[in-house]
Parts: sequence; C-alpha cells; structure tokens
Amino acid sequence: MKLFTYYQYEKVRKGERELKIGIDKIGFYTPQYYVDMNKLAVARNVEPEKFTIGIGQDEMAVAPITQDPVTLAANAALQILDDEAREKIDFVMFGTESGIDHSKSAGVYVHQLLGLKPNARTIELKQACYGATAAIQLAKGHIALNPESKVLVLASDIARYGINTPGEVTQGAGAVALIISADPRIMVLDDASAYLTKDIMDFWRPTYSDVAFVDGKYSNEQYLEFFGHVWDEYKEKTGLTIADFEAICYHLPYTKMGLKALRTILDEGSVDVQERLKENYQISTLYSRKVGNIYTASLYLSLLSLLEQKELEAGSRIGLFSYGSGAVGEFFSGILQPNYRDFLKIDHHTNLFNNRTELSVSKYEEIFEESLPTDGSSVDLDTTNDPAPICLTGIKEHMRQYTNKNK
Ligand code: HMG
Repeated sequence: MKLFTYYQYEKVRKGERELKIGIDKIGFYTPQYYVDMNKLAVARNVEPEKFTIGIGQDEMAVAPITQDPVTLAANAALQILDDEAREKIDFVMFGTESGIDHSKSAGVYVHQLLGLKPNARTIELKQACYGATAAIQLAKGHIALNPESKVLVLASDIARYGINTPGEVTQGAGAVALIISADPRIMVLDDASAYLTKDIMDFWRPTYSDVAFVDGKYSNEQYLEFFGHVWDEYKEKTGLTIADFEAICYHLPYTKMGLKALRTILDEGSVDVQERLKENYQISTLYSRKVGNIYTASLYLSLLSLLEQKELEAGSRIGLFSYGSGAVGEFFSGILQPNYRDFLKIDHHTNLFNNRTELSVSKYEEIFEESLPTDGSSVDLDTTNDPAPICLTGIKEHMRQYTNKNK
C-alpha cells in the first residue's frame, strides 16, 4: 500500500499525473432544539413575513448548555470517520469565531474526542465566518505536498446577538466537518481563487463580550461589495463566465443575503442560466432556513443542502463565496465527482432534522441566558436529555469536561 502511494506521488512530482484535491466527505451537526421564526416574530411584535421572507429564515437552531463549539464539531465529524480516515488524517484545522480558550486550540479537544492518531498537527483558525475557507486552502497546500494525507477541517459556531436585537433573527448553532484529500469523492476544488482583505468594522466580538457587535446595514453593503470584487477578479483570472456555473453557494448569515448577492450578477447570464442559478440557490438555502447562521460553517451548509437536496450531474461546476466580517472574502469553485451522492450522509441529516424539538420562545430565552461559570467555579451538567453522542459534562478547575457516550 505504501509503495503504491509512493508510486502515485512520484508520478505527481514528475508531472505525469494531475493531483486532484478537494472535498472527500462532509459531516454536519446541529443541536436538538429550534425556535419557529413565525412565533419569534409574534413575540417580538414583528410581521412574521419580515422574518420568513424579508430575512428568509423559518427556524433557528438553539444549543443547550451541554453543546459548545467543540462538541458540535466533534459530533459533525463523528459520522464521516472510518478506519481509513482515522489512519490518514494528520492535520486537523478548526475554524471558529466562538473559541472557548485564548490559548488552546478547540481542535485539540476534538482530536482527542474522536480518537485520531497522535501523529497529527492541530490548530484553530480565526477570521469571522471565513476561518474554515482559510483552513480548506491550507489543507490543499498540505495535500499537494503530502498526497497520501487527509485533512480534517472543522467549522463550528454558535451565533449570538442577544434577545430582542435586530440580529436575533440571524442567530443559529451548528457545525460542518470536511475531509479534504487527494482524489476526493465529492468535489475537486480548482486551484484558482480570488480573495480580498479590508480592515472594516461591520461585525466584531471583543474578547469581553459573548454577543457580537454589528453594524447591520453596513455589513450587508460590505458583503455585496466584497462579492462583486472577488467575482470580477475570479472571472478575470479564470476566463470563466456565469454560464459555466451550475450553482453558486454563498455564506448565508440569513438566506436573503445570498439572494441579494446573486441578483447583482444574474443579468450576466441568459434567461436559462438565470433560472438555473435561482432554482439551485433556493435548494442551497433549505438547510440554512432551518438552522440559521452558523458563521464559519454557513457556506458549507449551503453546499451540503444543494448536494443532498438535488441530484446534479457529475462534472457540474459549483461556485463558492466565502465572507468573514472584518473582513475577508473569497470566491473559488469546484467540480462534482461521479456518484458523489453515494458519499453523502443524506439519511443521517434527514433524521437529525426530523428528530429536533421545537422550543417555545420563552424556553429559548431561558436556554439563551444559561451560561457556564466564569469565576473559576466548577459545574456538573446533566447530559441525559442531550441526544448527541458527544457532550460537555461540566467544568472542573477551569477545565472543560467532555464525554463521548459511544466510547
Ligand atoms: P433589520 O433592520 O431588522 O431589518 O435588520 P430590515 O428593516 O432591513 O428588514 C430586513 C428585510 O425584511 C428588508 O428586505 C425588508 O424590506 C424586509 P431587504 O430590503 O433587505 O430586501 N421586510 C419584509 N419583507 C416581507 N414582509 C414584511 C417585511 N418587513 C420588512 N412584512 C439585519 C436586518 C440583517 C441588518 C439584522 O438582522 C442584522 O444586523 N443581522 C446581523 C448582521 C448580518 O447578518 N449581516 C449580514 C452580512 S455580514 C456577514 O455575513 C458576516 C456574519 O456572518 C458574521 C461573520 O462573518 O462572522 C454576520
């Protein structure tokens, strides 16, 4: 086996074989609770259509205190790990903006909880919702140098703006886990990419605050401006046009946001292209409509929704727009692989959604206000009502305690 890998690697090195790198597997997890946006609208004295049409959200996932960014990520990754992946993953990258420690990477906890091999690098990356995209690009570089390796990219967040704030309707909780490898079975990622960084204050969360600060209207404008910039640059770099895309997936802080961006470029395409992109956009938003904003994972939840809810032809090109406030934006694309749907966990995700429990608005508010001690005291949490295999069980001597019920 090793010899075969070496032989393949030699061919790549000599340029005799093109190395294809991309997404080999996708896992997703969202906690068991959600709030109905119609009911939240009534409680906030707002017309429900503002939330369901104007913002484009139907439900919002709510994390119980026994789920944090570490457990959400670990639960998302659990379903895509087989013996081969465990053996080959030698790099774990955790993109999050809900970090639990200023020093230790959230990825190290996940590495342990999943029982990955010790011979691995593990780090955490931060740039608002862009963190996981940065991880994917770094993973490509790692695989290019080590074609036999696999990289586990984790994107996990709990979006919190606060009760009765304009951002409340755009909260959410969940994680996506991706295995990036050579000869990927779901999507080959192209080398070309267009990116942009600008120091702006559209959304940020100082280290002393557990809710985000946001200039809502400005953040919407900047999202669109970044999209326009990287879209134009990507076309210039690649010579591709809008007609080359079967679909474009967007970072979805709320589902109307991506639609606003898509609309800015639709007139570049024929009526057929416009219809195709609009239809596939709606399909890419189905999961986000039920989950809300999950920051680093939102773009990849949009991709997952598209791939799981529609059978697309192998060879189709999917565009991906990543935006992380503050701000960094990137546009890149990938090509769907033959039989890619065989490698998705569609039934698992259908069950995940079907088994969720609706919370009343008052119960959601109660859970939202629950918090872990910040004064150094210890706490034991009851995980009996949490169906997730991996849970937070408490804090002891400043150390978070986790359990994997499957072990
Ligand atoms: P708002 O001021 O409450 O809402 O805040 P609005 O008054 O702008 O209304 C929203 C939409 O609903 C409007 O449509 C209204 O017309 C419509 P639009 O003009 O935008 O197309 N509307 C209705 N539609 C149907 N029936 C009705 C009705 N009433 C009104 N009856 C805002 C909205 C998004 C600003 C707020 O929720 C917020 O601040 N959210 C957080 C920030 C955010 O999500 N920004 C997005 C871009 S930044 C980003 O994506 C990065 C981020 O993910 C963070 C990161 O990178 O880490 C946030």
